[in-house]
Order: sequence, then structure tokens, then C-alpha cells
Amino acid sequence: MIDKKLHGDVVELTLDNPPVNALGVEVRRALMAAVVSADADPDIKAIVIRGVGKMFSAGADISEFGKPPVSPWLPDVVARIETCSKPVIVAIHGTALGGGLEVALGAHHRIATPDAKLGLPEVKIGLLPGAGGTQRLPRLTGVEAALNIIVSGDPVSAEKALELGLIDKIVSEDDLLEEALVLARTTPPVRRVSELKACADPDVFAKFAERNAGIIGRLDAPGACIEAVKAATELSLADGQTRETELLAKLVAGTQSTALRHAFFAERAAAKINDLPADTKPRAIRRVGVLGAGTMGGGISMNFLSAGIPVTIVETKQDALDRGVSLMRRNYEASATKGRITSAQVEGAMSLLTPTLDFEALGTCDLVIEAVYENMDLKKQIFARLDGIAKPGAILASNTSYLDIDEIAAVTSRPGEVVGMHFFSPANVMKLLEVVRGAKTDPAVLQTAMTVGRKVGKVPVVSGVCYGFIGNRMLEPRQAQADMLLLEGALPHQIDKVHTDLGMPMGPYQMWDLAGVDIGWHRDPNRTDTIKDALCAQGRWGQKTQKGYYDYDEKRRRTPSAITEETINAYRAKANKTPREISDEEITVRTLYTMVNEAALILEEGIAQRASDIDVVWLYGYGWPRHRGGPMFWADTLGLDAIVSGLERYADAMGPGFKFSELLRQKARANETFV
Ligand code: NAI
Repeated sequence: MIDKKLHGDVVELTLDNPPVNALGVEVRRALMAAVVSADADPDIKAIVIRGVGKMFSAGADISEFGKPPVSPWLPDVVARIETCSKPVIVAIHGTALGGGLEVALGAHHRIATPDAKLGLPEVKIGLLPGAGGTQRLPRLTGVEAALNIIVSGDPVSAEKALELGLIDKIVSEDDLLEEALVLARTTPPVRRVSELKACADPDVFAKFAERNAGIIGRLDAPGACIEAVKAATELSLADGQTRETELLAKLVAGTQSTALRHAFFAERAAAKINDLPADTKPRAIRRVGVLGAGTMGGGISMNFLSAGIPVTIVETKQDALDRGVSLMRRNYEASATKGRITSAQVEGAMSLLTPTLDFEALGTCDLVIEAVYENMDLKKQIFARLDGIAKPGAILASNTSYLDIDEIAAVTSRPGEVVGMHFFSPANVMKLLEVVRGAKTDPAVLQTAMTVGRKVGKVPVVSGVCYGFIGNRMLEPRQAQADMLLLEGALPHQIDKVHTDLGMPMGPYQMWDLAGVDIGWHRDPNRTDTIKDALCAQGRWGQKTQKGYYDYDEKRRRTPSAITEETINAYRAKANKTPREISDEEITVRTLYTMVNEAALILEEGIAQRASDIDVVWLYGYGWPRHRGGPMFWADTLGLDAIVSGLERYADAMGPGFKFSELLRQKARANETFV
């Protein structure tokens, strides 16, 4: 756990707990003992602390989360390092995050490699740094810088850390140990961070909170972080640390941090595929083919190009191909303008792209992803043709949003090689990838789709075959109920507000306006069955025409629309409905609880492997607020009996299309939870 090596009168202590040198109880115990013994050893003049492998330390051991703390506590270990009578030097390479950085803050001197990243990311899981980080960092870097680091949770570079006084020197990785030893041998003064003063005007904190209101939003942790840093300016380190511990305890007990930790673990769990033979290995993907250079094909290609994987993109017409390719270039260039990538990276990515009208060119690809129009006949035609062209062992994937992968696979001679890879729009940005497992999908093919998805930065989740898979299927009952509620007396903005109040980026009608109210309407523009049809007939196609369910100004600012209300009224009259007052509670039950019910059906049918996968789908594909953990976690916090009784209360209004999940009822009766 801690390797000790003597270099004359300097002892080198190396954290050895691969892969990330997490500070679990064994490491804490060993580190504490090593420091105590070095302090007492008259032959030792100084201590150097380092990490083995790729980094110094990524911090706490996440398997200890939520469990009662075991002694020695990290704050005590850090304090013991700080009170050591001999100089302690921490030498950082790779990353020093969370508890890792707090250990470094306990030392008397810090040096780091040029590529090192230092940060306190606890806020991202709804917590605050609890081993003195909120007390020592402001004493070292000043209050403003400490607030930025602790409240954002984002790491800083070595260069920035040097500028802030967080480290004393940048040293190349090859020289790191040598430099640390040189520093140790010159017996520098013992500089204890706890003895420094953190000064700030009292109004700095309120101003910081105001400036960052957008990020802080409804979250508990950032406010607690600010409180803790404020304590560092008012109290001694010991008293400040007591305050830090109190604030942390409150966060730990709260629902938000439980939700955020759940989200963290849910994402890891989603990577695991149930019932896959242990020896399943992913196939190598050296070249990807993409069919269709439209909205999705372009974005999908960018993922692979950015990861250095060559892409062959095929279209039927030159102008569609040119349009698609130039949009990809424009997207890359926009990122370069914002400083997110360099122009060399733009050129590098684009040089890996082979645009062509020649279908046969797909013969060299290890994975082909089809992203043509959502039409079963067309997809079947394409897969049959692809079957004749793709090389043996190549994976044939479809980006379909709704269609039956098994039906598509059946037209090929190799249904085992067919899988769904459902990206979300914009495909170069959205993290979710639903990997759709067909009845005959080969385990290695499934594994490959998951692995390559992660390689290009996505969060892949396995789904079985059904209409809309996990995510879009859950939108169906929500939309059906929302549309009924419009007829019964609600207005789009009232329904949307229930969703945005929960913390979602938009409600169902804002989503239509963004995606295009006219999706699917052009096929039969004479239809007038629904309010949506009537809006389309009036050219109310959404944000792109500056009018949809809402009106928009040139800056895309939204206001409720009188014309939409009139249209809704006309449909109410036609349906013989007298509008009634609709409560937010009814909207919540009929749109959000119905989604939970649909999710329970999805679980019941084995479409999702586990409840937490459904949460991951909603967190990464639809902007479900992370501090609410996802729809399943959220349902658990409300209590499944409350969900069931809510649904029963409105069962009559919800119509015959609503199907109650037996699993949901069972779990509610047994007082169980989903996750
Ligand atoms: P799109 O209409 O923007 O692009 C389709 C492209 O396919 C067009 O450029 C068309 O020229 C090309 N194409 C048609 N037939 C072809 C053929 N035989 N060979 C080569 N190219 C051909 O459509 P979009 O939105 O990109 O959708 C594509 C697929 O992705 C659909 O299955 C859709 O359901 C799915 N999808 C769409 C999402 C979205 O938000 N737009 C999200 C997730 C999935």
C-alpha cells in the first residue's frame, strides 16, 4: 500500500494502490504509520510522497462511499502530515484529485509534472472536499481561486497551479523524484498551510454566488462549498475543519448527493452486459463506414474522426454528400474558433474522412453504421445490399430510432453481425448511445459496439428490441398524456413548466419546437387529426420558422402563443371538451409518473438490463437533472406507493391506452425500490 525507500537521509513514500492510488482505509493506515515512524526516526531528515503508476492519486476510494467512516480518517492523516516536524514534499504526476490533492495540501512543499492536473471534484457528486481542502486551498491560493476550483470541481493545469501558488515548481516526469530529493536535502523550511491566513472581503462570497447562480442553480453542494471556504477566512484551521465536517455531513445525508453518486455508479454499471460469455472479446475497429450524410450521419462520423478512426461516408447524391461534409468541417471549425480544438486537429480529423458515392467502398470497413431515412423498406434494401459488400466479420449497425432491428437483420445472411447503434442528436455532442441487442446479435458484436462507443466518448447502454427502445419509448406515454391534457384544459407552457421545474432542460412542447413540429407531417400534409397537424398546416413548424407551440423572436426567445391557444380551443370544441382547471400535480402524474410506469414495463419485459440503465439513458440522452438521479431513482425518492396511487387517481382520465406495470404495483406493495 505504501512503499518505503531510503535515499540517504530522505525517505520516499510511494502510494501503491493501482489503478488510481485511491485512499482507502489500508492506504490511509499505512501512510499515517509511515509518516509517524519517519517523524520519529532520527536518521531521517525529510519525506517525499509520490504515487505509483499513472498518477499521484485520484482521491477517495469510491467503494467506501455511503459506508460509515473507518479510522484513520483522511483529515487526520493530512493533519499528521502537516504537523510532521520534518519537511514533507509531495511530488505529483498525472492527477491529484480530491483526497489526493488534500494530502498534497497537508505537505510543506509541492512540485508537479507539466501535464499534471490538480482538482477537488467532490462537488460533482454533491459533496465538498472533507479532508481540509476547503480550509487549506484558500489559505494557499487566495479565496477567489479556491472558490473557482472547489465550486466548479474542474481540475487546473500544473501551469495554473504554479501561478496560483498551489505548487512550488513544475518539473519533468523524468526528473520528478530527483528534484523532490534535491529539494528534500536542502531541508527547506517546514511551511504549514494551516498557519497561513485566508483573507477576503465578506461580500466576496455573495458576489461569487451571484455570478455563478447559473451553475449553482438548485444544487446544495456549491452553496455548502462557499460556506466552508468562508469559514476558512473567519476561523482557525481546526475550527474551520469542524465546520467543513458539519457541512459535509449534511450533504452526505441529503438526497442530491445520493442521486449524484447513484448517477456515477449507474454509468459504470451500464458498461456491464449481463449474460455475456466470459471469454467474449471485442473486435478491432480500424475503419468505420457511415451510410447517409444527413443530420445524424455527419455527427456520427465526427465521433470516430475525433477519436482518430478513419471513416468512409457514403451518399446517393453528390450535393447531399458535399453538404454533409461541409457541415462537419464547419462544426469542427466552430470548435476551433472557440479554442476547444486546434486548427491542426480540424485538419487531422477531416483528413481521416473519405466521402464517396461508391457503396462498394464500404467493403473495407470493420463497422458500418446506417443513418439513412427512417423507413423500414429502405433500411431492408440497404442491409441486403450491405450484406453482399461488407467483409466477413464486419459489424452492420443501424442508427434507427424506432424500427425493429431483428426485422432488419433478417434480410441479411448474417443476423449475428447486426446490432443497433442509436446515437442522439446532435450526435457529435450527446453522450448517450443505445446499443440495441437483436435476438441474434453475436456477443462479440454487442461487446464491440459497447467498447467502440466508449472509445469515442459515449456512454453506451444496452437495450432490447422494442418500439423506440428505452428512451424514445418512454416519451410515448408522456406525449400521449400531454396531448390529452391540452384538450382537457392545459396549455403547452403549463405542461412544459412542470418539466423544467423538475430541472429538465425542456418540456415536451419545447422539445417539439426544437426538433421540428413538422417531423413526419410532410408525408401527409392534408391530415388534420391533431392539434399538431393543425399547427403544421399553419407553418408553425417550431423554432426554425419562429413559431410552433410557442412564438419566437429573432433571438429565439419564447413566449406563449395566442394562435396556438386558439388552435387548441378549436380542437377542444371539436372534441366536445369543456376546458377545466388542470393542476400541476395532475400534469406530474400523467406525464412523469406514466414515464416511470413505462420504464417499469421496459424492465418487466427485459428490454433494459437493470433499472439504473434507464436512469443513464435519461441522464445522458434527455437531460434529466443529475441531482435527481434519473427517473427510476426519482421514483424511489417519491416512494413507489405514491407513484402507484397517483396513477390510480387519474386512471380514468388516462384512457384505455394506458397499461399499468405489474412490476411497479408489486414493488410498491412490497415497499421496494427500483435502484
Ligand atoms: P436525414 O434526412 O438528415 O439524413 C438521411 C440521409 O440519408 C440523407 O442525407 C439522404 O440523402 C441519405 N440517404 C438516403 N438514402 C440513402 C442511401 N440509399 N444511401 C446513402 N445515403 C442515403 O436523417 P437523420 O435525421 O440523419 O436520420 C437518419 C436516421 O437516424 C434515421 O433512421 C433516424 O430515425 C435516426 N435518428 C435520427 C435522430 C434525429 O434527431 N434526427 C436521432 C437519432 C436517430
